[in-house]
Amino acid sequence: MKEEVLEQKVFDPNPSPYQKYATHVVPDLSYSYDSLAPYISKDTLEFHHQISHQSYVTNINHLIKFMNLENISREEPLETMIIKSSKVERLKPFFNNASHHWNHILFWQCMKPNGGGSIPPELETRLISDFGSVDQFKNAFFQSAITHHGSGWVWLSIKNNKLFITKTNNASNPLIDDMKPILGCDLWEHAFFLDYRNKKQDYVKAFINNLINWEFVASQLN
Ligand SMILES: [Fe+2]
Repeated sequence: MKEEVLEQKVFDPNPSPYQKYATHVVPDLSYSYDSLAPYISKDTLEFHHQISHQSYVTNINHLIKFMNLENISREEPLETMIIKSSKVERLKPFFNNASHHWNHILFWQCMKPNGGGSIPPELETRLISDFGSVDQFKNAFFQSAITHHGSGWVWLSIKNNKLFITKTNNASNPLIDDMKPILGCDLWEHAFFLDYRNKKQDYVKAFINNLINWEFVASQLN
């Protein structure tokens, strides 16, 4: 199939019969759409989860069919497919959507109603060891997020048993740099513009202080 035909089908916003071949789904949230307010509104969360995340999943399922990736998709975990597709130019459309799917699965779990607050001791110790203090970690994460230009993500990841803060552009993620992300904040405008307009710093501040599910993040250490 020619690339332009593929593009046209992949990004067709209308429901497609090829959806019946779907192998990936958008996971349900463990909290209600209105439960992160006032930090993330019901409208933002509903659109982000139901429309935006769903569009990446729809695209992945189209691409698996059209690029004959069904066998690989059945055999390989999503993480492996993301890493492999990042190295193949022809698979870039798949990489972009698969990576963004993975990013959002992590992102939803990194938040909870009444988040922020105390950090489990094991994670707190690791943050102090690798960043000097919890406040220094939070400040570095905040600075990294607000200085990112354009769409992307800011992450806390593990590599060689050490924690790192990194940023990625667009849909990419640290898996392709052999890191394991344990906390991710979506810096695309669709994540915050409706609620915060151009004040990205207020969104990031709310994410850190009022939304992070530290118990989940700590659970990812192992
Ligand atoms: Fe997003």
